[in-house]
Amino acid sequence: MQKIVHLKSKKHSMIIKVGRVPEILHWGANIAKIDPDLILSTERPISQARLDVDVPLSLCPELGSGHFNAPGIEGHRHGEDWAPVFEMKALTCDEQSASFTLEDTVAKLELLIEVKLDFNSDVVQKRITVKNVADKEYCLGKLSSTLSLPNHANELMTFHGRWCHEFQTQRLSFEHGGFMQENRRGRTSHENFPGLFVGSKGFSEQVGQVWGFHLGWSGNHQLRADVRSDGRRFVQAGELLLSGEVHLKEGEEYQSPWLYATYSNTGLNGISERFHEFVRANIIKFPTKKARPVHLNTWEGIYFDHKPEYIMQMATEAAEMGVERFIIDDGWFIGRDGERAALGDWYLDEKKYPNGLEPVINHVNEQGMEFGLWVEPEMVSEDSNLYRQHPDWVLSLPGYQQPSGRWQYVLDLQNPDCFSYLFDRLNDLLTRYNIGYFKWDMNRELVQPGHHGKPAVHGQTKALYRLFDELRLAHPDVEIESCSSGGGRIDFEILQRTHRFWASDCNDALERQAIQRGMSYFFPPEVMGAHIGPAECHSTNRRHAINMRGVTALSGHMGVELDPVKESAEEKQAFAHYIQLHKQYRDLLHSGRSFRIDPADQSQNIYGVENGEEMLITVCQLAMPNHALPAPLRVRCVEKEATYEVKIVEMPHTSFQLMKQRPQWLDQTLTLSGDNLEEIGVTLPILDPESALIVHLKKM
Ligand code: DGJ
Repeated sequence: MQKIVHLKSKKHSMIIKVGRVPEILHWGANIAKIDPDLILSTERPISQARLDVDVPLSLCPELGSGHFNAPGIEGHRHGEDWAPVFEMKALTCDEQSASFTLEDTVAKLELLIEVKLDFNSDVVQKRITVKNVADKEYCLGKLSSTLSLPNHANELMTFHGRWCHEFQTQRLSFEHGGFMQENRRGRTSHENFPGLFVGSKGFSEQVGQVWGFHLGWSGNHQLRADVRSDGRRFVQAGELLLSGEVHLKEGEEYQSPWLYATYSNTGLNGISERFHEFVRANIIKFPTKKARPVHLNTWEGIYFDHKPEYIMQMATEAAEMGVERFIIDDGWFIGRDGERAALGDWYLDEKKYPNGLEPVINHVNEQGMEFGLWVEPEMVSEDSNLYRQHPDWVLSLPGYQQPSGRWQYVLDLQNPDCFSYLFDRLNDLLTRYNIGYFKWDMNRELVQPGHHGKPAVHGQTKALYRLFDELRLAHPDVEIESCSSGGGRIDFEILQRTHRFWASDCNDALERQAIQRGMSYFFPPEVMGAHIGPAECHSTNRRHAINMRGVTALSGHMGVELDPVKESAEEKQAFAHYIQLHKQYRDLLHSGRSFRIDPADQSQNIYGVENGEEMLITVCQLAMPNHALPAPLRVRCVEKEATYEVKIVEMPHTSFQLMKQRPQWLDQTLTLSGDNLEEIGVTLPILDPESALIVHLKKM
C-alpha cells in the first residue's frame, strides 16, 4: 500500500501519511511535490514519561492506542469492545479523494473514512462510516470526523447566539485545553451554529492563516477543538448521539454527516470565498436560473389577521414597489387565529377565505408575482384536530409530561402514518394551488424526542430530509425556505433541499448587520433572506431611518416584511428605491465574490462583493465614530493597474449631524487606479451612527 496520499486542489494540498492509521502531515497551501525525505523529516521524537511509542493523531483517534483526548469513535457491545484499535485494510485514492478502509478484528468493526478535496473551491469534505461485522449488536456512542491542524493555529473564533441574535462570534485563545459545543436542541439551533474557525493569532477578515469548519447536519451535534498536552491540535465534529440512539445489528452501518472544511492564507475572506464557491457549485440546487425574486412576506404586516380583500390590496401595492414573490405567512389554515392552535390542520380556513385561496393567488399572479405559502409541517398544536385524532403521533416518552414550546409539539416523522399524512397534505396544497414557494417553519425544540420510547433525533432528522426529498421529487419547481423561528435551522445539509434561509426573526437593521456578517462566512448572499421592516422594529422596538434598513436588506436575498397599505407614500417610495437598487446590482450581489474589510474604526462594518469588473462596497456606521474624521476607504482591487470609476450610489437621505461640509466628490464620479484605491483610498463622509452608504466601482 502506498505510504503517502497527496490530495490536490487549485490552491491547496492535503498530505496524508498512511501507516497503521491515516494521519494528516500537511493541510494548507499547495505543495508541488512530495520530497523523498518527507516521512523521515516529519518523524516525531518520543518524550520522557510518556508512552514508549509514537501515537499518530489520526483521522479517527482511538483511546485504545493512547490518544488521551476525545476519541473519534465510542461505543460498546454490552460493555465490551469499547476501545477499538484499527488497522489499515485498504486504500483507494486519486488526486481529489481518498477512501481508507480500516478494521478492528477484535472488536469486529470496520471503518470507512472518506476525504475529498474539491478542486475548484479547495473545500475538504470528510465523513466516516462504521460497520458492525459481529453477530452481537453494537451500541454506537459517537462517530466524529477529526482533522488535525498545525501548531500555529492558535486562536479560535466560535459562534453563539439565540433567537433574534443569531451568528454572534467570540475569540478564544487556543494554546491549551480547548473548546466544546454540544447541541441537544434537535435542530441546528440559534445557539450552536455548527461551525468554527481556527487561525494564527490575530487573524482577521483580510489577514492571516485560517482553517474553517462546518458540520452539515440539522440535528444534534458535538463540535470541539482541542490542544493536546504535546501541542498537537485538532478539530472534531459529528452528530451528538443520545444514550442508546444508534444500535447496529450485524452488517448494519452508521454514516456520519459531512464535515466541510477549508483553509485560507488571506484571513476569513479566503474562507468565505471558498465556502461560497463550494455551496454555489455543489449544495444549492435552484430549479431554474432565474434571478432571486424580491419578497413580500405578510407576517409582520398582518400576523394572524387574514382578510383576502385586504391581502390582495397588499399584493397590489407590493407589486407597485417592485416585489416579485408574495408570501402569505402563518394564519391561513383552519382555526389558526393565534399561536396556540391548529398546527397540523393543513386545510384552508374557509371562514377567512370563503372564496378559497385561488382568487388571492390569481390576483398575486396577475400582478406579475409568484405566490408563496407558509407551513410548519413538523408541528402539532394540542388544540388541533390532528392532535385530537392522533395524540400518539407526537415525539414523546411514555410516562412523562413534556413542556410544550409555543404551545406545540413535534410530530414523529418516523411514524409512517404521520409521514404519509404530512406528505399528502403538503402534496395536496402544491397540487391544488399555484404555489411556487413554501416558507417551511419549525418553531420549537425537541425535548423528549422519543420514537417508541427510544431516542430519535437521528431518525427524525433523516425522516425530515426524506420528507423534503419526496416533496421535491413530486414538485421539482417549488422552492423552499428554511425558517426555524428565524435562523434556527441553517446548515449545508438542509440547504441541499432548500433554497433560502430566513436568517433571523430580527429585522432590526443594526442587529442584522452582525447576524448577516456571521452568516456570510459560510453562506452566499443569494440564500440569506434579508427584509426591510417597518421603521420601528417589531422585535426590538428600535427605530431606524430607511437608509439603514434599506442598505442592510439590500445585500442579501431581499424582501420587505410589513404592510405596504399602512405605510406612508414616502416610505413606499423608499422601499421601491431600495428594491430597484437591489435589482440593479442583483447579478453582482448573487454571483460575485463577497468580502469584508478590516475597518480602522471598529464601530464600522464594511463589506462588499466584486466580480472583476464591478464592485459594490457598503460602509455601515454601527455606533458613534471612533474619531472625528473617518479613515479613508482602502479597497483591494483585483487589478492594481486598472482604472476604476468610483461613485456613491446610496447615502443617508437626512442631513448629516456630525459633518458640516461634505467632501466634494460625493456628488461626482472619481477615476482612480487600483493601486491608489488600495494604498491611499478614498475619503468618506462622516456617517452618523446607524447609517450607511454604498460605493460602486466599475473597471474602465
Ligand atoms: C416564526 C418565523 O420565523 C416568522 O417569520 C413567522 O413565520 C412566524 N414563525 C409565524 O408563526
